[in-house]
Amino acid sequence: MARIAPSILSADFAALAEAVDLVTPETDMLHVDVMDGHFVPNLTIGPPVVASLRKHTDLYLDCHLMITNPEKYLEPFRKAGADGCSVHVEIGGTDELIEQMRSLGLDVGLAVNPDTPYEAFEPYFDRIDLLLLMTVFPGFGGQSFIADVMPKVRRTRDELDRRGLSVAIQVDGGINEETARIAAVAGADVFVAGNAIFRADDPRAAARRIRQAAAVAA
Ligand code: DX5
Ligand code: ZN
Repeated sequence: MARIAPSILSADFAALAEAVDLVTPETDMLHVDVMDGHFVPNLTIGPPVVASLRKHTDLYLDCHLMITNPEKYLEPFRKAGADGCSVHVEIGGTDELIEQMRSLGLDVGLAVNPDTPYEAFEPYFDRIDLLLLMTVFPGFGGQSFIADVMPKVRRTRDELDRRGLSVAIQVDGGINEETARIAAVAGADVFVAGNAIFRADDPRAAARRIRQAAAVAA
């Protein structure tokens, strides 16, 4: 079953509530891109915005932490109402971060840059709920999908299935109807989309079409 995660990074932050309401019927989780101007060259939002979203919606809040020191902020995100957080494997300290997320009651996500090899994240398969395989280099919405990541998606799907593990494979970056289909064929099951949804004339219809494209391919 293909799940859709609209990325609010591409929404109008001055009209965030309306943007969320518009896509809610086609949304399985709301993707919140957190950037610290250090791990990535961009700054976005933090726990106060998650707290505002939490008051407004019952949607699952999926926080993608593109930050260098997530250990300082996991608890504030949990208190703000995050359901799951993903931390990047590239920053290190992954064992401790996984433990911290579990003890806070957060779903555990591990995010992986396009050029990070399979061997770097495979050791964590039995301790995580979601693997976020980036299909752009993190930092900005509206970039082009990197198809070279697909062999890594395929290899991950095959290994998870072989071991009977129910870890979600999320793809993020440049996802639209066409690329969602490609990623679904490779084995992804959660599709983050920012520009393709929130910059569309009809964001709800755009989310529905991406889900249909992914579902047909899976
Ligand atoms: C990139 C973010 C993505 C981004 C996706 O650093 O992690 O979630 O917002 O945006 P699109 O779908 O426009 O590539
Ligand atoms: Zn993201």
